[in-house]
Amino acid sequence: MGISGAAVHVVPGTAPRHFCSGLYINTSQLGISSKPSGKYRKKKCSVYMRSQSNCMRVCGVRVVNNRSKSLKCQCQMTEGITDMTGKDGNGACLKEPAGKTSQIFTDVNSQKVIGLENGPAMAIDDKSVLAGAAKHAMHKKRGNSVEDEAWSLLQESMVYYCGSPVGTIAAKDPSDNNVLNYDQVFIRDFIPSGIAFLLKGEYEIVRNFILHTLQLQSWEKTMDCHSPGQGLMPASFKVRTAPLDGDDFATEEVLDPDFGEAAIGRVAPVDSGLWWIILLRAYGKCSGDLSVQERIDVQTGIKMILKLCLADGFDMFPTLLVTDGSCMIDRRMGIHGHPLEIQALFYSALLCAREMLAPGDGSADLIRALNNRLIALSFHIREYYWVDMRKLNEIYRYKQEEYSYDAVNKFNIYPDQISPWLVEWMPDKGGYLIGNLQPAHMDFRFFSLGNLWSIVSSLATVNQSHAILDLIEAKWSDLVADMPFKICYPALEGQEWRIITGSDPKNTPWSYHNGGAWPTLLWQLAVACIKMNRPEIAARAVEVAEKRIAADKWPEYYDTKQARFIGKQSQLHQTWSIAGFLVAKLLLDNPVAAKTLWNDEDAEIINALNIMVDPSNPKRKRGRKVLKKTYII
Ligand code: GLC
Repeated sequence: MGISGAAVHVVPGTAPRHFCSGLYINTSQLGISSKPSGKYRKKKCSVYMRSQSNCMRVCGVRVVNNRSKSLKCQCQMTEGITDMTGKDGNGACLKEPAGKTSQIFTDVNSQKVIGLENGPAMAIDDKSVLAGAAKHAMHKKRGNSVEDEAWSLLQESMVYYCGSPVGTIAAKDPSDNNVLNYDQVFIRDFIPSGIAFLLKGEYEIVRNFILHTLQLQSWEKTMDCHSPGQGLMPASFKVRTAPLDGDDFATEEVLDPDFGEAAIGRVAPVDSGLWWIILLRAYGKCSGDLSVQERIDVQTGIKMILKLCLADGFDMFPTLLVTDGSCMIDRRMGIHGHPLEIQALFYSALLCAREMLAPGDGSADLIRALNNRLIALSFHIREYYWVDMRKLNEIYRYKQEEYSYDAVNKFNIYPDQISPWLVEWMPDKGGYLIGNLQPAHMDFRFFSLGNLWSIVSSLATVNQSHAILDLIEAKWSDLVADMPFKICYPALEGQEWRIITGSDPKNTPWSYHNGGAWPTLLWQLAVACIKMNRPEIAARAVEVAEKRIAADKWPEYYDTKQARFIGKQSQLHQTWSIAGFLVAKLLLDNPVAAKTLWNDEDAEIINALNIMVDPSNPKRKRGRKVLKKTYII
């Protein structure tokens, strides 16, 4: 048994009676009588609804099992779908109509597009962002039919629960009946959809998504009798219609999450919670509605995710240790350990969470732990993951088996690991963050999402960020080619493919996760380029995509070294390809809005890093003690 959000459907032909029925609640924590077993029991929030389409109920009940201390029932009722300006009819959900906050509305392709309030940590001023935008003005087109088609497909992909939109389906392939789990709402896939809606001023779906997935976070989850951490967010969920107990005429809707227990390979979705935090911040910034992030249940949700990520383990590194396939690449691809994508999302989520956590005694220790981790993590990545020509040459001349605190080759890397492809590939100008770092192992593959999000989150320095974009420009024919953007470069081939993927027939060389091209990555590329005031790079890539993406029916991914073919097993009408393209377009048209999505460099982190690399500083020597403090969450 677990908790469940459930809505009631009425079987056609019966009275128009709709109930939003409730959650399985650990009633002992609500101070109401519970079943003798003390387990969860189903609670009905029997609210009469006028019609399915204009009534939404959001139950802000946090159910965190018997061990949890925080539980508060704050059922809120919103009537009427929130309109594009954020007005919510009679509803009580929005603390302040979004239109009242300092937002800039502009009209793009007849859509309302929202700017943002000036957050405190925005380093690049509007003028420079806008000046950069002017550089690509020639790329702008209005009334574009590809965009119009994308909007209508995105609209069609919306998934409803209890009559309200709660997410977007992963793919709605008109040509394929073998949907696998693509009929679900994936947390990571919804991010570009959510951002597209936010940029359009449609906040309700994002708000609902945030609150409903929050309820799923506390689901009782087990795999073969083992329970993962309470803060884990699901990889995906679906809305299932089930018969209602004791009523022959009614059905109820149930949210069914998948935490990886059903996923291919049983992979843990580590990125879900990190993306959830990032989206929550973007929602607040875009809509001006801070009431969601201020809710007690949402604050608890943030803390649970952080607690899971910041828990002490055996690890020597500040990077997050994960199993293979724990992120966008959700199958065996040799990315277990400390993959860059997870580190970039982790860093970004820590910064976003710090902005949103309510100050007070309850969060002081957590914020201290979070700050310590931010410093250690950025030092580690900037210092040890970075490669360019100079660094490669340094590795090439490494000594090995150095036992000391002052070792240069700290991870005992054998220079033979520098593969011939890399010697050829590394441009004179430019560099990137490697895919993974483990004892005696550097994974030199270029992973796009990790590098792009390191720019977006300021995990990479300003110089490194520019160098990554330089490399993208220099390696355009490898990374963009006929369709942006390669998920990683190069592909694993031959013996390496056999050993590392386990001869995975879906991940053959230059296909899918193994060097395939994923249009969804366009939106992260756009944010990174706009942040660095080089939007013309993203605009060029969007232009490449626009030539064929709609005619190809919005594939999930493309195959071959040049991305010439639609992927062998690629879904069509893949929602995050549609949304990724749309978000890139919207941001290039209104670059100021991208500020809602990036993190500026933090002065305190820079100061702390300067101390760590200062040779005259005695604390630097062994690189420890400085940062480590104990804390209680
Ligand atoms: C594939 C992708 C994963 C995505 C899912 C749904 O499994 O690897 O990142 O979330 O499809 O689109």
